[in-house]
Amino acid sequence: MRGRFRPPGDKSISHRCFIFGLLAVGTTHITGLLEGEDVMHTGEACRALGARIERHGAGEWTVAGVGVGSLLPPRQTLDFGNAGTGARLMMGVVGGGGVTAAFDGDASLRKRPMRRILDPLERMGAQVLSQGEGGRCPVVLKGTTDPVPIEYRTPVASAQIKSAVLLAGLNSPGDTTVVEVEATRDHTEAMLRHFGADVTVEPFGAHGRRITLRGRPELRPSPIAVPADPSSAAFALVAALIVPGSDIVIEGVMMNPLRIGLITTLREMGASIEALGTRLEGGETVADLRVRASDLSGVDVPEARAPSMIDEYPVLAVAAAFATGTTRMRGLHELRVKESDRLAAVAAGLAQAGVSHAVEGDDLVVEGGAGFVRGGGLVETHLDHRIAMSFLCLGLGADQPMGIDDEAMIATSFPSFKATMAALGARFE
Ligand code: S3P
Repeated sequence: MRGRFRPPGDKSISHRCFIFGLLAVGTTHITGLLEGEDVMHTGEACRALGARIERHGAGEWTVAGVGVGSLLPPRQTLDFGNAGTGARLMMGVVGGGGVTAAFDGDASLRKRPMRRILDPLERMGAQVLSQGEGGRCPVVLKGTTDPVPIEYRTPVASAQIKSAVLLAGLNSPGDTTVVEVEATRDHTEAMLRHFGADVTVEPFGAHGRRITLRGRPELRPSPIAVPADPSSAAFALVAALIVPGSDIVIEGVMMNPLRIGLITTLREMGASIEALGTRLEGGETVADLRVRASDLSGVDVPEARAPSMIDEYPVLAVAAAFATGTTRMRGLHELRVKESDRLAAVAAGLAQAGVSHAVEGDDLVVEGGAGFVRGGGLVETHLDHRIAMSFLCLGLGADQPMGIDDEAMIATSFPSFKATMAALGARFE
């Protein structure tokens, strides 16, 4: 693999661009937005709640917002497609926004737990008018106009739970506090500040944080330049490591410490990843990553690292398959409730590719083939974009190409994936 490219805009930040645009009074200018299906669903939901959203060119958008507390009641069900982030963050917006909205999505989203969001929102005064089995979508949520200020300790490390509570707290007359035992991605806090809200962040315990938002701020539109998504960069990065002779540069990758656990882990495995031209872009540190094919060794990945690489375990498992020795990835329980049961989907894909592995409790253990992986056959993707892209990457380094049963979901987060990989040297059939 040879060449250079810039991955699309960060998915987490792109969802939040539309959401903060809706909640600010005035016009928010966005550049570098990820134009993937997930983000477009969030944009549609923001439109249904009153935002005027326009596209001006590739990645360039404006959002004219209505302000916190002035949402329009949506006329149709808000359809989030495959997007858990969109659905969950918007539940926070609606829950504290005094309107009633129905939330739904595709077969994957309908399987994902929503009680983790609805529980704190009910404590704040929102009402769940109806829900699917086990608190899943479709959900009808009646928001409150006066959210009770609460202190909420998240039961699992989840930026989505944290964000939903903070977004609901925007309309609260008092302070809303979220305590997380393991720090998760901090884009919501950063954007709240960027739009003028008063947010304080204190350390909590060894790895956690206590985040407090003062309610009822006037959110002021502020331009946002979306940096390139480290979770999308991950695929070419791992592909370059496992394909002999590769030397690529991935440009403008966001290096937020709460997002780059994969890079830390791969470097521990012996990966040659150089960060060049480190600089600030849109309030985040970004760098160009030069990645060269490397002999990797198995490592033990601690559970505490999971929040900073939660979406990268499927592609890390691919890197581990090519390493020498054993890689143990600890504490992956949250992988069971992503776009698919990723622990099961990765294990099945590894089995298909002839990689020895085991799921031991919440740990995934991969025995590397020291550069050799058989590959071949067809992997079931279960409506999961990251399973699809990870196993296509495995095929690039394997003896036989890997097939996937369905490429459609790749468009949720990385519409240009195939073109990008082809330009670097991959062949799709
Ligand atoms: C996200 C948070 C993570 C991540 C998801 C995006 C976000 O989910 O898996 O892809 O933008 O806040 P959890 O916070 O539920 O782990």
